[in-house]
Amino acid sequence: MTIPNLFLQTYIEDTIMNANTTNKIRAVELFAGVGGFRLGLESASTSEKEYEVVWSNQWEPSTKRQHASDIYCARFGFENHSNEDIATVAADEIPSHDLLVGGFPCQDYSVASTLKNSHGIIGKKGVLWWEIYRILEQKGEEAPKYLMLENVDRLLKSPASQRGRDFAIILSSLNRLGYAVEWRVINASEYGMPQRRRRVFIMAYRYNTKLFRKLQTSSSVDILNTKGVFAQAFPIKTLQEDAIQYAKLSDDLVDITENFNKENPTKNIFLESGYMVNGNYYTARSEADYEGLFVTLGSILQDEIEVADEFYIDDAALEKWQYHKGAKSIERVNKTTGHIYKYSEGSMSFPDSLDKPSRTIITGEGGVGASRFKHIVCINGKYRRLTPVELERLNMFPDNHTIGVSNTKRAFLMGNALVVGIVERLAKILLKEI
Ligand SMILES: C[S@@+](CC[C@H](N)C(=O)[O-])C[C@H]1O[C@@H](n2cnc3c(N)ncnc32)[C@H](O)[C@@H]1O
Repeated sequence: MTIPNLFLQTYIEDTIMNANTTNKIRAVELFAGVGGFRLGLESASTSEKEYEVVWSNQWEPSTKRQHASDIYCARFGFENHSNEDIATVAADEIPSHDLLVGGFPCQDYSVASTLKNSHGIIGKKGVLWWEIYRILEQKGEEAPKYLMLENVDRLLKSPASQRGRDFAIILSSLNRLGYAVEWRVINASEYGMPQRRRRVFIMAYRYNTKLFRKLQTSSSVDILNTKGVFAQAFPIKTLQEDAIQYAKLSDDLVDITENFNKENPTKNIFLESGYMVNGNYYTARSEADYEGLFVTLGSILQDEIEVADEFYIDDAALEKWQYHKGAKSIERVNKTTGHIYKYSEGSMSFPDSLDKPSRTIITGEGGVGASRFKHIVCINGKYRRLTPVELERLNMFPDNHTIGVSNTKRAFLMGNALVVGIVERLAKILLKEI
């Protein structure tokens, strides 16, 4: 898109925003799950300025029952919630909003061809990034000024055969829509939150915002070290100028699909910290700079008196758990080729350490079956799994947020969710900046 005279435009937009005496930032939550973003936005709200979720969408394609949507409605009400495949929702069914948030799946974002006659990018069907793109594009001048998105950190490196291509497509397509973008890989535990969960968070600001202008007019050292939203919310050890890599992105998505990072495809292009404005991106390796307290797994556990019997592991089952957690080297047969190979894995800490933040919780955390990745704690000599409330606490959700479905489902919903404290901090800085 052609970006109009920026300073004039920003001045007009800011004036309109100030004249608009409402202190509400209207948010839309896509891929809402059980509402992790919404909880973070609500906690960041103050009496002067608040986030209001004006519409949300959550639809689980793999099951008939819509557990996440049911929980969402039970907590936040049915009003303005949609439980439909987002691909079937027309952009004009979504009310105007200032901020769009969501954790979309990591998929293949390659673009096969571009229709000559305009905006028609053809991404693969079922790839949900293109649903976000479609909504933003169809909203036109009404598109939200701000985006806050979350994904697995692999997004920056995928696909393995052409590292960075998918993220380059995301950046370039947001550039097309008039957004500047900041990103950061954040491990929640490194900033005093209870879970080691590494995710990439993405913030985008439209051309007519102060934040866009800031990214455009400040030096890369300043944005990454101090002035950017991430630098303010999640401080990093100071980066020197020569640590920052810079390059320009192609604005042709087919060109990116075919050629991005082809010369050295296993090299990582997009590092932990970075931003993009006007198609130029700046990125660097970064490390958390945090001196506060660390929250441990032991500190979020429920009192044993509150833990139901089903979570305890009896002596017979304990051996199975020990086997799964232990080091092993097994012969396996490749089902397609018949090739025999050795599969090896090292041992895991068993039980989980109580004096460190917890490992990442994943969707398979629930259920009684022994597994390598489920957490096991040992309290007063008794081994047990984590309860749904403890899993909620590891994501900084309120206790019993997911009550109403089976314990296995509750664990699944937490494995899919995010650490609310991260959204809260980003949202606080965003409030300060707008
Ligand atoms: C990574 S989870 C997001 C979880 C959320 N941030 C939370 O706090 O619970 C992605 C969500 O997108 C939903 N989803 C997947 N495909 C969808 C589609 N086509 N339309 C709408 N939602 C979809 C999934 O059911 C899942 O709940």
